[in-house]
Amino acid sequence: MNILILGSGGREHTIAWKLVQSSRVESVFVAPGNAGTASFCRNIQLDPEDFQAVKKAVLGNGIGMVVVGPEAPLVAGITDFFRADQELKTIPVIGPDRTGAMLEGSKQFAKEFMKRNNIPTAGFGSFVPGDHEKAVRFLQMNKPPYVLKADGLASGKGVLILDNLAEAEAELKNMFAGKFGSAGKRVVIEEFLDGIELSVIILTDGHDYKILPPAKDYKRAGEGGTGPNTGGMGAVSPVPFAGREFMEKVEERIIEPTLRGLQSEGNYYKGFIFFGLMKVNGDPYVIEYNARLGDPETEVILPRIKSDFFELLEGVAFENIGKRPFEVDERTAATVMLVSGGYPGDYEKGKVIEGLEKCTGSILFHAGTALSEGRVVTAGGRVLSVTSMGESMDEALAQSYMNAAMIQFEGKYFRRDIGYDLK
Ligand code: AMP
Ligand code: GLY
Repeated sequence: MNILILGSGGREHTIAWKLVQSSRVESVFVAPGNAGTASFCRNIQLDPEDFQAVKKAVLGNGIGMVVVGPEAPLVAGITDFFRADQELKTIPVIGPDRTGAMLEGSKQFAKEFMKRNNIPTAGFGSFVPGDHEKAVRFLQMNKPPYVLKADGLASGKGVLILDNLAEAEAELKNMFAGKFGSAGKRVVIEEFLDGIELSVIILTDGHDYKILPPAKDYKRAGEGGTGPNTGGMGAVSPVPFAGREFMEKVEERIIEPTLRGLQSEGNYYKGFIFFGLMKVNGDPYVIEYNARLGDPETEVILPRIKSDFFELLEGVAFENIGKRPFEVDERTAATVMLVSGGYPGDYEKGKVIEGLEKCTGSILFHAGTALSEGRVVTAGGRVLSVTSMGESMDEALAQSYMNAAMIQFEGKYFRRDIGYDLK
């Protein structure tokens, strides 16, 4: 079968890398892809939110399945678009419809869904600009730190955590005034959860599911968890503090009620559900849902899946995922993200990347890279994800750090403390 993956990051490179290992897969196309996917797949230059362009690519290349990497096309309704189109409706899309994607697309929707379904999460209130006074009173009733979230998609930037009330009130005002755009004028104010974070992702066919290996990502730009939030600076899997007892709680209190809730509301969600969790005093709470795989979580999760990933995705399409083999590598996977200087703020692009061919013993997943006159150059904030497998986390990390040092581009930066908090 020919498969089309939508997206252009390290996550999409990893999905492509995994899918080409299946004997059932003929060709993988990535749209728009990056320099890494160009080396073993066919890149198609299109915008994944331009559904007519996606349709043309699907019909023109005999595509039999579409895997959606990022959230934006899902929230914009790409799955609904396929279902409603005569020529596309039999082609499975791995990813929920617009209603399912609301779990990520609207924080208020997600919080109310959790409340209705008794899924543990931080207490909250949801406010629009007209409720300004109520929102301020709600803030005053809470304790610091204060958590303010823009309701709609804001590329991971719409969450503010503030230490004092005056700052929180000022930011609330800015958000109501449109700091995060019109979708961010609705503000969710949350109780602060003090614990340790991890990502648990499931693949579901709407009825049954597989729990993918848990991962921990490192969101802050600076070492020791300092500096601004990023898309993710590195990740490890497994997560030492997510043992069997904890994962049983996650399954019973979070995964199953989420699926039952979706089903009882008539939503047969087919795709990945990402549970951003906080472990607080041994118990799991949901910080957020995403309607897709995480990045860079994917770069450590997929290398640990031994089974044929295409067969698992096909299990989603045929609604028989429960029957599909699912075997996980016991070893540890670690990834270190090399980023452009200045990220997540302003950074320059087009820097030549050297040393890729010198790397051994790691898998290089490209994120923001492009080809320019035959050379690989930087084309984004997150540039390359260096993944290694090891018998221990230390072994995997040492291997990734050795190769991270080998790769050169002007302004290269990476965190040197991935996994250290877990030792
Ligand atoms: P989100 O986009 O909702 O995942 O939030 C971004 C980050 O803010 C999360 O990964 C957490 O580190 C932090 N965060 C969000 N909500 C809370 C909360 N209620 N308590 C503590 N930290 C939070
Ligand atoms: N690494 C977090 C995310 O993909 O949302």
